[in-house]
Amino acid sequence: MATSRIPASDAASEGVEAIVSGFERLGYIADRSLATALYLVTKLRKPILVEGHAGLGKTEVAKVLAAFLGTRLIRLQCYEGLDVSSAVYEWNYQKQLLAIKIEEGSDKTVEEKEKHIFSREFLLERPLLQSILVEDASPVLLIDEIDRADEAFEAFLLELLSDYQITIPEMGTLHAKHVPYVVLTSNRSRELGDALKRRCLYQWIDYPNLEKEMKIVRTRLPGIEEELARQVVGYVQSVRGLNLSKPPGIAETLDCAEALLALGTLRLDEEAMEQTLGCISKSVEDSAKIKAAGRGFAP
Ligand SMILES: Nc1ncnc2c1ncn2[C@@H]1O[C@H](COP(=O)(O)OP(=O)(O)O)[C@@H](O)[C@H]1O
Ligand SMILES: [Mg+2]
Repeated sequence: MATSRIPASDAASEGVEAIVSGFERLGYIADRSLATALYLVTKLRKPILVEGHAGLGKTEVAKVLAAFLGTRLIRLQCYEGLDVSSAVYEWNYQKQLLAIKIEEGSDKTVEEKEKHIFSREFLLERPLLQSILVEDASPVLLIDEIDRADEAFEAFLLELLSDYQITIPEMGTLHAKHVPYVVLTSNRSRELGDALKRRCLYQWIDYPNLEKEMKIVRTRLPGIEEELARQVVGYVQSVRGLNLSKPPGIAETLDCAEALLALGTLRLDEEAMEQTLGCISKSVEDSAKIKAAGRGFAP
């Protein structure tokens, strides 16, 4: 039986196209699949989980999305042990103590004093709370490297992402005035929970092919000669095939190309490779493997 495919509406493909071209103007080369996923983020208002190896443009997606939408970026960098007081809010104890002292002689009732010291004036708003309290327009909330936070934090996030509200016992429940666009990134150092994944749209970012990486290098470094760009990209793409512990990402390609420009190198010969090895390899073992294979890479 022939399968029929319903074509995407004109408005949708125009929307996706606008993301591809708008991102390119902002210096980011987005595949159609990523642009489609981001289009859906803006339409369905679902969070997106962007996974991939390091240095492939995951964090940058959120930054460029905020610039593209003309809105604020609020970033939560995750790490092991990240807790509510760093991610959501904390009371400013010193300021509260000071206020209690100042109000000692006042004729306010205890309830009034309590209400005062547990008001927003004494709240240290961390990224997740900030994203809910933005007054004017939906911000982009970047929850970066969620795989580094522990599972308890992931469970807490799940709650936030389902109803965009935060309960502070002393103040009650605060609802988002404008639901944020949420971008979660993960380097996949651990598998995330199914519940979180189910709540999100998913996008895997892979190593770019030669054509895409050339376009990225020439967009980010417009001063580079095409031939040198081609040599750098070809070299880094070959290095990725060496079974390294940390294969170089796009960030490393850009670093290497930038270093060559700074050194005034016109051709990526063996000497230039040696000089820029530290840009693409971050361990002594990987450097040894690259050097051993090195002769074969010289153009
Ligand atoms: N598709 C792309 N277009 C333009 N620049 C890119 C692209 N992908 C990655 N980069 C650049 O590579 C670098 C690393 O990106 P980053 O978002 O920090 O990677 P990740 O978060 O995946 O580790 C940044 O300078 C970013 O601008
Ligand atoms: Mg990142």
